[in-house]
Amino acid sequence: MEMNSPVGANALDVGADGIVGKPMDRVDGRLKVTGGARYAYEMRQGPSMLYGFVVEASIGKGKIRSIDTRAAEKAPGVVLVLTHRNAPEQGTGNHREAHPVLTGPQVTRYGEPVAFVVADSFEQARAAAYLVDVKYDPSSGKYALRTNLDQARVPHQRDGAVADSTVGDFASAFADAPVQIDETYTTPLQSHAMMEPHATLAMWDGDKLVLHTANQMLNQGQKVIATTLKIPVENVRLVSPFIGGGFGGKLWVNADAILAAIASRQLQRPVKTALTRQQIFHVTTHRSDTIQRIRLGTDRDGRILAIGHDVFSGNLPTEQTYEAAALQTRTLYAGPNRLTRHRLVPLDIPVASSMRAPGEAVGLLALECAMDELAEKLNLDPIELRMRNEPSEDPEKHIPYSSRHLIACLQEGARRFGWDKRNAKPGQVRDGRWLVGMGMAVATRGNPLQLSKANVRLDSDGTATVRMAMTDIGTGTYTILAQIAAEMLGLPTERIRVEIGDTIFPQAAGSGGSFGAGSSGSALFEACHVLREKLARTAGMDPKTARFANGSIASEEQSRKLTDLVGTGMDADGEIQPGSNNKNFSQQSYGAHFAEVGVDVDTGEVRLRRMLGVFTAGRVLNAKTARSQAIGGMVFGVGAALHEDVTLDPRFGYYVNHDLAEYHVPVHADIPTIDAIFLAELDNESNPLKSKGIGELGICGAGASIANAIYNACGARIRDYPITLDKLLAKLPVQA
Ligand code: MOS
Repeated sequence: MEMNSPVGANALDVGADGIVGKPMDRVDGRLKVTGGARYAYEMRQGPSMLYGFVVEASIGKGKIRSIDTRAAEKAPGVVLVLTHRNAPEQGTGNHREAHPVLTGPQVTRYGEPVAFVVADSFEQARAAAYLVDVKYDPSSGKYALRTNLDQARVPHQRDGAVADSTVGDFASAFADAPVQIDETYTTPLQSHAMMEPHATLAMWDGDKLVLHTANQMLNQGQKVIATTLKIPVENVRLVSPFIGGGFGGKLWVNADAILAAIASRQLQRPVKTALTRQQIFHVTTHRSDTIQRIRLGTDRDGRILAIGHDVFSGNLPTEQTYEAAALQTRTLYAGPNRLTRHRLVPLDIPVASSMRAPGEAVGLLALECAMDELAEKLNLDPIELRMRNEPSEDPEKHIPYSSRHLIACLQEGARRFGWDKRNAKPGQVRDGRWLVGMGMAVATRGNPLQLSKANVRLDSDGTATVRMAMTDIGTGTYTILAQIAAEMLGLPTERIRVEIGDTIFPQAAGSGGSFGAGSSGSALFEACHVLREKLARTAGMDPKTARFANGSIASEEQSRKLTDLVGTGMDADGEIQPGSNNKNFSQQSYGAHFAEVGVDVDTGEVRLRRMLGVFTAGRVLNAKTARSQAIGGMVFGVGAALHEDVTLDPRFGYYVNHDLAEYHVPVHADIPTIDAIFLAELDNESNPLKSKGIGELGICGAGASIANAIYNACGARIRDYPITLDKLLAKLPVQA
């Protein structure tokens, strides 16, 4: 079905058993904790399997002058050393289209693979990798965003969103506004830091390639690999039943997959490889750093007259992806005069791509901090400022919101958090050596829908099997799909088998952009709907009124066991496609974050004390996995506010802190009391489930609530993330 009209009352509302929405434990939980869930690097393929290890370029830009592989080739166990001299010609394109490797002597970025050593064991391959002797002719590169802003260009259109948008006359409205904020915020380079490293086992059967690989969007990955290897897409099979986190770092295809595939084809043996943690930082993608200027002009009552957001981010010269940090500024608040612009600076560092909530995650770090600064200037409560700028329709597209209950989130959050106890004047609350403050910020994230298909089959033993090329990156996909099928077919969840993570199954959206659950779940909903009709017809009942429960189908007059109707098995296909609803309605999930922090009065050490997120995202499919997703996003936001920072050496284009000892993400000691709740909402325009995306909502705005709490605690406004104690120290109030 195509989403062209509102969804009426359906089987999830009428006669539902309440399975969808329940806080059910993960159906794959036991497999995960017992080691039964096999990840890409744990896959094996017989005794002939070989291991590969990547050799990275050790300069930022230049050319390979010579590459001597003789010592490596003679090393124990080595069977192949791939370099640009013996690698095949490959298809090209940006990182969403192709991922060619070892294409020539030129080096475009630090860490670009220059060789791939294949041996009988991983240890032999790794040892031999250090024997590959590469000599370079370095040339000067452009590495740092802030020193190359003069190179900025307008990026090409991306995903239907244009780089610039204008409504009214921003310049004069801002100039004439009685109250103004004009501030610049920066966010650093960030790395996804998922637990599972990128890994692939490649094998060929004739001209058909099978890759066991950690990948979020299998059907997209299939296309990228086919384009790169110049083979038909149907000759590529991706298998990825379990993925140890992705956050966008496994959205596309990385060098591990292509190198393993090429080596395996040359050797006619299975080849397995994994990137080390250090390699992940340079060989795969990251989130660009940003420089963001926010301008807000209001009347004396705080009504926005002009809102402007300018964003700079960087990427390789051959890439178009930019950090779309002004996206939410186009839709979040009312105001007649608006200007948003994205500029892309070509840089000679690894490919910048999506990381959890690309755009909003860092855009809200700036916008929601600026709103806090504006509230103070107006002497208004920050929540009241948001209420005064609540739009009645999308302020740029002039279309209605599909559903929007931001004010309810703000009010419920304020009530639960005790916002009325906040002292608006900074630096007033002390708890021993801690200066204590509260902050809030708004969460919002777009709700896209992607083409997805599903097949559901009911067998004579009373079990149903769901099949689709969907992935579960730790989010709970297996569980929500089991819940949807169980609800629709009137079966207990134990009777549902979910088979995903394989491109032999019907095409699915994959896990990305917060579209996974809504898209795949809707395709399954449609498939179950078709199966219900088939079953009803077989039973001679009216599909509209037949009720499915306890493994039976029932009408007013009779009840039949499903197992008596399916014969040797009965199956059905379903499909969901985005339609005009995505153009006629502005679709976002919403929320409000509240944070309380302590700032050490002498050292500037920041400690989160408690945090609450209140969200609305349409129908919640599983209260437990949804809450976990939201909390995970909020923790990610804590990292963005306080910890995460890839440090670039601007001389060599090298990431200095390329491991988890030096690239800090929050640990348990950083996260005290934290909670997330979802308010009831159904979105009739989003999809048949009436759900909206939650995977990225939790991070959106979370960090800004912490920045605002820090300001409230100690009066220091830090606009350069992360807010580390060195930045706070000089701004702390002097103690008597
Ligand atoms: Mo997401 S950044 O689309 O995995």
